Amino acid sequence: MRLKFLIFLIFLFFLPISLSFASSEEGKLTFPTGPIDDFETFVKAFDSMRCAECHQDIYEEWKESYHSRSMVSSIKGIANFFTVGVPKEWEKQLDKKEIIKCLDCHLPQIKFASERLAREIADYMIKAKLAKGKEKDEAIARLKKLNLSCYGCHNIKIAATAPGITGHIEPNVIYTAGEGESDAHETEHAPILKRSFFCIQCHGVYIAPDGESTYCNTLSGSYVHSYLGRGGRKTCQECHMYRKDRGHRMPGGHDLEIVKEGIDFQAEIKPFRYGVGKWVPAVNVEVFLGNKAGHRIPDG
Ligand code: HEC
Ligand code: HEC
Ligand code: HEC
Ligand code: HEC
Ligand code: HEC
Repeated sequence: MRLKFLIFLIFLFFLPISLSFASSEEGKLTFPTGPIDDFETFVKAFDSMRCAECHQDIYEEWKESYHSRSMVSSIKGIANFFTVGVPKEWEKQLDKKEIIKCLDCHLPQIKFASERLAREIADYMIKAKLAKGKEKDEAIARLKKLNLSCYGCHNIKIAATAPGITGHIEPNVIYTAGEGESDAHETEHAPILKRSFFCIQCHGVYIAPDGESTYCNTLSGSYVHSYLGRGGRKTCQECHMYRKDRGHRMPGGHDLEIVKEGIDFQAEIKPFRYGVGKWVPAVNVEVFLGNKAGHRIPDG
């Protein structure tokens, strides 16, 4: 009896301390550090909806971008790689090590998926292409929940390619190119977000951890050689984010407005007449097409 009372007293003594500890940490966003095995838990942990409540405008912009559908918009190509490329051409088993060779850019949080979950996700890609009816629809519905989310750019990819230079990434920190601070989450200044290199790590040749390289898109090669090489000065962010307040919409080849901006169209029209006996009026149209984008177009 006395012992129980003593325990109760000790409990009372510690109660305020443990409560105040909980409330100072409560509310701050936290993110996983180890492998996740359950699909829905994985979706929730990295969901951009977690940021939408306070960053509604940016969320809406991002929703319009191709980054918000980086899995569903590439089903055919990725499913082909999983069903033909890996097993038939490379004669390898489809495991997380191979899956990551595509998904490290299309779904950077894949690194937190367990071996089993990575294969489950690969399976949805394959079913989305090859299955029929309800099974296909369900696979597509699941893939729609997976994308390059806020956390992918504001945390995972901050030091993904050169951890030796950029330092260790803290899982619960949201990295920013600005100086913003909030009670909602830890923030830390990361100037890399302002540089082209940040985009190039995904919009360029990929070297997998095992040394194998993937050429999904090579746009940044022409940015470096043809654009910067000829005196171009703008960063990817300047054309795709700051110009016309494009922000997180980051429009590209699917957006007519920016496509027009990339094409320099000039026409020279010379009227003349020709004919033998009877004169026929005609025009000579000479069209000059030029590329004003910061790289080769189109890409992909
Ligand atoms: C280095 C990062 C990276 C890796 C690794 C990667 N991709 Fe991509 N992928 C991209 C980017 C960026 C785009 C958008 C390219 C564009 O629109 O210019 C893209 C676009 C695509 C598209 C859509 C193309 C289109 O015409 O709409 C497909 C399909 C695709 N990737 C398949 C794959 C497959 C299959 C793999 C693995 C073998 C892979 N990707 C690996 C970054 C990557
Ligand atoms: C493709 C990568 C990418 C994704 C995805 C992304 N961001 Fe960003 N974000 C950036 C970059 C790059 C900047 C820095 C722009 C600058 O200031 O140079 C930025 C800037 C910001 C800023 C600073 C203020 C501002 O308006 O520039 C906030 C806040 C922000 N992002 C929130 C979000 C949220 C919320 C999401 C998800 C809905 C998100 N970001 C998704 C790359 C990304
Ligand atoms: C409960 C509200 C809340 C949530 C949820 C939230 N933020 Fe914030 N965030 C803020 C506030 C407030 C600021 C500071 C004011 C500002 O700079 O916008 C901030 C600042 C930022 C900044 C720095 C902006 C700058 O100017 O430097 C980034 C980047 C950012 N948040 C990204 C995110 C991302 C990504 C998520 C989701 C993983 C997220 N935030 C979730 C409230 C929130
Ligand atoms: C984590 C990898 C990653 C990073 C970092 C990244 N992107 Fe992307 N981006 C993608 C993928 C993947 C797609 C293609 C999705 C698809 O079509 O399947 C894409 C699509 C795009 C598109 C749309 C292309 C189209 O066909 O319309 C543009 C534009 C773009 N990104 C610009 C940027 C810019 C600018 C940055 C840097 C601020 C950036 N991206 C950073 C992975 C990335
Ligand atoms: C000088 C401005 C400028 C710069 C710098 C620039 N872009 Fe673009 N980008 C454009 C324009 C304009 C288009 C639209 C042209 C088109 O797709 O026909 C475009 C299109 C794209 C597309 C879509 C390509 C396609 O075929 O659908 C992607 C992806 C992209 N840019 C990414 C990047 C990345 C990554 C960088 C930095 C390495 C970058 N851009 C630098 C102006 C620029």
